[in-house]
Amino acid sequence: MNRCGCWKTSFVTQYSLKQEKLLSKTWYSPSLTRLRSRRTRRFLTFATLLSSPHSDKVNSLHCPVNREDFPILHQTIENGKLVYLDSAATSQKPLVVLEALRNYYLHNNANVHRGAHTLSARATEAYERARQTLQHFIGAESREQVIFTRNATEAINLVAYAWGLDNLKPGDELILATSNHHSNIVPWQLIASRTGAVLKYVVLDSQQQDSLESFKSLLESGKVRLVACSHVSNVLGFINDIKQITQWAHSAGALVLVDACQSVPHMPVNVVDLDCDFLVASGHKMCGPTGIGFLYGKESLLENMSPFLGGGEMIAEVYEDYSTFSVLPHKLEAGTPAIAEAVGLGAAVEYLQEIGLDVIHSYEKCLSEYLYRHLKDIPNITIYGPQDITKRVGLCCFNIKGIHASDLAAVLDLEGVAIRSGHHCAQLLHRSLGISGSARASLYMYNTKEEIDSFMGSLYRSIDILKR
Ligand SMILES: Cc1ncc(COP(=O)(O)O)c(C=O)c1O
Repeated sequence: MNRCGCWKTSFVTQYSLKQEKLLSKTWYSPSLTRLRSRRTRRFLTFATLLSSPHSDKVNSLHCPVNREDFPILHQTIENGKLVYLDSAATSQKPLVVLEALRNYYLHNNANVHRGAHTLSARATEAYERARQTLQHFIGAESREQVIFTRNATEAINLVAYAWGLDNLKPGDELILATSNHHSNIVPWQLIASRTGAVLKYVVLDSQQQDSLESFKSLLESGKVRLVACSHVSNVLGFINDIKQITQWAHSAGALVLVDACQSVPHMPVNVVDLDCDFLVASGHKMCGPTGIGFLYGKESLLENMSPFLGGGEMIAEVYEDYSTFSVLPHKLEAGTPAIAEAVGLGAAVEYLQEIGLDVIHSYEKCLSEYLYRHLKDIPNITIYGPQDITKRVGLCCFNIKGIHASDLAAVLDLEGVAIRSGHHCAQLLHRSLGISGSARASLYMYNTKEEIDSFMGSLYRSIDILKR
């Protein structure tokens, strides 16, 4: 396994895969000779599934996005048309975002908050406008509550160090979930080891979701200072009831940090409605550039937090042996920020808003139902997460008995299908499921029913190759 948790292809050579691929291209043809093959029979089984009553609902589905906005999707990979099913790892970027980056560098590039000249004023205006766009997007009360970071990981570390080091003492408890992404576990382990705080873990319920009962009972100790959990699991695809968790946590005197990496890009999220204390997300998963993410925090908490990093931009006065700090949000944004990336993220948010987060959510729900129903019919498949499709978002992690998930991903890539394999930065979760990894297909608003059909065809063929 490599450092990212992805398996190297264990036994399939590129040469034999290419041979298989040449063969597989003929399977679509309905000639009688091919009908005799086992592979074709399986493909026909899938074709029959596609004409099931459920498909009527999906047949009338229209992708809410103009796919021409995403030129990257229109390419051929290894002789197959690209089917990008890895948006939970990172999303593709629409032209408006690329144009915003280009426009910024062509016309407005300068450092922010410092210069008296026109370009600096323009750069500052564009950077702060992006912050305001994000503020409205997540329903924050003020612009100062949005702190730009490099990504969600940095945003969680910011809270862990800037809030945790000053507020945790030996014996205090932090509630995490076994299903959390490593970025919402490891920073807390580092802080717990420095403060003497104790980590407690929420387990999965019988539906393979974070157990609400587990949150409730862990909060009863009276020692919990913070609950850190995901809004949507990047492996199991469930949506946590954050409002309920927040209500219980606040009654127990604890704060709540929500990792919204997999929710903010796909559904309406309002921080006031959730009543969470902190919320983090990454720009690159929501059509924005890499290198930009954000932290939302309640103002009183952010005001009382010590700076995470020290340097330029975040100070008021610097003396020989001490400094005073600037106001929010600058106090928590040391050094020259990722200005162009923030501008790009602002453009991405405007793009999402134009389509409508409720439209994106309901489209993805239908598409994910379609994907789930068809995956479920594959022999010897285990799909992780709730079996109740109404409780799932547009991603499915699965394993097929006797097939290594990374071999599956490698064979699918030869037909242009991009899925992910490995532990998806959730080793605790995979361990609790008794597996070391899984394959993950994740959807976004630009995916179509036809792409899922194409994925399913490729999947049946890949299984045949790997099972032989
Ligand atoms: C649920 C969740 N949290 C956190 C992260 C970390 O995001 P980043 O690497 O952009 O900081 C991811 C990325 O996959 C994620 O899916």
